[in-house]
Formats: sequence, structure tokens, C-alpha cells
Amino acid sequence: MSKPGLVMVGPLMPRVMDGVAPLFEVHKLWEAGDKDALLAKVAPATRAIATDGTRGASAELMRKLPKLEIVGCQGVGVDAIDLGYTRTHNVIVTNTPDVLNDDVADTAMALLLATIRRIPQGDRYVREGKWLKAHMALTDTLRNRTLGMVGFGRIGKVIARRAAAFDLKIVYHTRNIQTDQPFVHYPRLVEMARDVDILMVIVPGGPTTKHMINAQVLEALGPGGYLINVARGSVVDEPALIKALEQKKIAGAGLDVFENEPNVPEALIKMDNVVLAPHVGSATHHTRNAMAQLVVDNLKAWSEGRPVLTPVK
Ligand code: NAP
Ligand code: 8YV
Repeated sequence: MSKPGLVMVGPLMPRVMDGVAPLFEVHKLWEAGDKDALLAKVAPATRAIATDGTRGASAELMRKLPKLEIVGCQGVGVDAIDLGYTRTHNVIVTNTPDVLNDDVADTAMALLLATIRRIPQGDRYVREGKWLKAHMALTDTLRNRTLGMVGFGRIGKVIARRAAAFDLKIVYHTRNIQTDQPFVHYPRLVEMARDVDILMVIVPGGPTTKHMINAQVLEALGPGGYLINVARGSVVDEPALIKALEQKKIAGAGLDVFENEPNVPEALIKMDNVVLAPHVGSATHHTRNAMAQLVVDNLKAWSEGRPVLTPVK
């Protein structure tokens, strides 16, 4: 029997490439000069897409593959996949939850420490020879601080575990209270922002969280407050953040994600009280390989008629 077709949207980890090759006829969309011509040619036999959280799968793409049955995403966030389309067309979507929790949580803590203790600024200070002339200025501290978790799911809880080891007081904002958790729950984000020193953002992207970190929330966080975003750029109103930073309405920000990646606003690049990272939350060999393996395991299960391991509900 011939293998089903799979459209790979962009180059994924070698482990995905190697894992799907024996199971599918793989079509590399990014290598096609005429993408529409390739899609038209392979559509009759294509039943799967492999993609990642950034490239996703648009309705426009999926419409061109009417026999599509599954989208395997390398990434836990699926906001770049048109879930309205997959739902109405009974297309299974799989993602890669949990295997990345630890590395993303490490990145979140690294950004938090780097931002508050000005680690990149210290690095620049040494390299530029400024230490030879004077000591670097003192910084803010994590002592006696409250961390407001915006989102308290799989990754949020792992971040909180690390934050607890730093003696931070933890509170959280989600839509649903988690009665099994010992931390104070804030149903209203703006009220939590008023009570905390740091907002740590780790909610999914998409329409329900778009710009939830807005001017009002930043104003409530206040001039001593810090924002750390390891979720999605869309969650933060970027112009409002830039304004708040410029007007010293908050003290600083650590950002792994941006509204229009990989484009980062010049205003943020120029600011000294901001630490920037190029969306590297899960970007270790260990975790990216684990994510890749999960993509393969899901597609393999589907191809063998078994239930997929990690469906997006
Ligand atoms: P998760 O387990 O689904 O947790 C999501 C949390 O966000 C839940 O606590 C949820 O609680 C809350 N939430 C969802 N919508 C909300 C809303 N409108 N208002 C307030 N809270 C809301 O997801 P996860 O595995 O922790 O991943 C979270 C996100 O992190 C991913 O979707 C992805 O976008 C991002 N991420 C980024 C990187 C990176 O490299 N920077 C890596 C991995 C993941 P309620 O449902 O009760 O509201
Ligand atoms: C991915 C992420 O690297 O899992 C996610 O949601 O943001 C990252 O781990 C990103 O989706 C690109 O694949």
C-alpha cells in the first residue's frame, strides 16, 4: 500500500524528518518554488501536515489539502494553527506539552534574574572597560518580592516551583480557580498587577489573551514593577509596553516573545531596562529532540490507527 502524503511546512528537527520518512511521502513546502503547484499536485494523497508553533497551519493552507486528517505541531502553543478550521473539518491537532516545561521554566527564571539583576548590562559593562573606571550601579532585588503568575498551567506551575526556591511569594491569575493550589487566586488581572512586584506571563496566545497585558495592567504594576513574558507576543500590547517603559511607569521587562517575530521594535532594542531573547524558551538540544520525538510518536500512532498521544482538545 502506498504511504499517505505529509506536507512539512518548514524545516523541523532532523528527528522529525527521520521519524516521518518511513511512514509518509514527505513534501517539503518550503523548498517548493511554486507552493500552490506542489499543493495541488500532492493534495489527493496528503492526509497530514507537520509544522511548528511559529509557522502553524492557516485555513488557507489546509483548504488546499481537502483530505487532511492530522496536523502535528512541534510546540505546545497552537495559536498559529487555525483551530476553527480543524474543528469544523474534523482534523486532529497534536502538540508537544510537558516535555518542554523544565527548559521553558529555566528560561523564564533566567530572564527574571537577568532583568532584575541587570546581568546583560553587567556583561556589557565589563566588555566596554567601564569597570576599570567605576563599579557598576546597584540593582533591584528579588528579596521580599511577590510574583504574579499570569497563567498557571503546566509551565506556570514549574516556574512557580523554581520561584519558590528563590523565596518569592507566589499568587496567580487564571480564569478558573485551582482549589488544589495553596496560592492566592486573583480573578481580575489588574487587581493582581496592583499587588505584585513582577508579572510572569505564561498563558496561551490567541484571541482570548490578546493584549491582556495592556496600559491599565502596566499602570497597576507600577514604577517598581517588572514584566516577564515567555508566553506569546500577542498577549502584550507592545506599544503600550514601550510607552510604559519610556515613561518609567514600570521598572523593566524581560521578553522572550514579540508581536511580530523576529522583528523587535527599535524602541525596545534601544532601552537599557529591557532584556531581550529570541524566542528560546524551549531551545535546547534536549528539549527540542523530545518535542520532535513527540511529533513523530503522534503521527506514527495516527498512521497505525491508534489514538494520538497528545491531542489538542
Ligand atoms: P497550559 O497548561 O494550557 O496552561 C495555560 C494557563 O493559562 C492555564 O492556567 C489557563 O488557566 C491560563 N489561561 C488560559 N487562557 C487564559 C485567559 N484568557 N486568561 C487568564 N488565564 C488564561 O499551557 P502551558 O503548557 O503552560 O503553555 C502555556 C503557553 O506558553 C503556550 O500556549 C505557549 O504559547 C507558551 N510557550 C512559550 C514558549 C517559549 O518558547 N517562549 C515555550 C512553550 C510554551 P484557565 O484555563 O483557568 O484560564
Ligand atoms: C516552540 C513554543 O519552539 O512550544 C511553544 O509553544 O513557543 C516553542 O517551544 C515554538 O512554537 C516554535 O516551534
